[in-house]
Amino acid sequence: MNDNTRKIIYTVLIGLPTILIVWTFSLYFFGCGTTNTCSGLPEAVVTPIPTLHPAAMPAPKVGVDAVPSAPRCRVSALKLLGAWVDAGYSETETFSFTDVKGVNCTANYKDDVQKLFTTPNLWYDGAQACITCHYADIAKATKNMDLSSYSGILAGSNRVNGAAKGNDILGGGVWANALMRQMLYAPDGKTEINRPPMPLGRPANVPADGPVISAGTPPLP
Ligand code: HEC
Repeated sequence: MNDNTRKIIYTVLIGLPTILIVWTFSLYFFGCGTTNTCSGLPEAVVTPIPTLHPAAMPAPKVGVDAVPSAPRCRVSALKLLGAWVDAGYSETETFSFTDVKGVNCTANYKDDVQKLFTTPNLWYDGAQACITCHYADIAKATKNMDLSSYSGILAGSNRVNGAAKGNDILGGGVWANALMRQMLYAPDGKTEINRPPMPLGRPANVPADGPVISAGTPPLP
């Protein structure tokens, strides 16, 4: 073996481990600083779970809600009631009325009229529903009158001793003559018959014909 060969062997034998040590050490030093835990490095700014972008779209509707709601007409409570009574106050048949825009709309008792008697806060903010006082237990209800059902409304008021029929409040199908209208029509908070306007406690700023509400549907385009 000559000297040159020996040199090469020694160089390789010493050089390779040296390179290995330096390389390992540099990995350790530059990767983790001088600590064992790598805590010397700034922590990576990442969330533990991938960031989800907040949904920008409204939640999709399912079931009945998925059916787009039909456009509704706007009309005053008394005009709606009047149209219903003058059309013969049917429980199931539709009736028509002219809305605030002059459109000829269609409504029915169940979807449009009944809520005038059963919904609180409808006539004004803070209003009690008619049925709070005029409910099915006619022995106890105010004026022995039940406005909670179609048959109750038709049976009328003052059904003392549980009478099946009382005083007609629908004017025999003529709204202009109806006691219901006289108790509800209240310009400046006063009825024309000097009785308290309904719903009882109704403030003077409620329009004479009651609030304008959404009811009925316009004709199909
Ligand atoms: C807080 C209780 C109360 C509420 C709510 C109420 N009423 Fe009355 N209602 C009365 C009282 C009390 C009378 C008697 C008024 C009087 O002294 O003339 C009456 C009388 C009536 C009468 C006359 C009955 C008759 O034969 O003399 C009608 C019709 C009537 N109410 C309809 C309604 C309607 C419609 C509503 C809802 C829009 C309503 N009431 C809400 C208490 C109430």
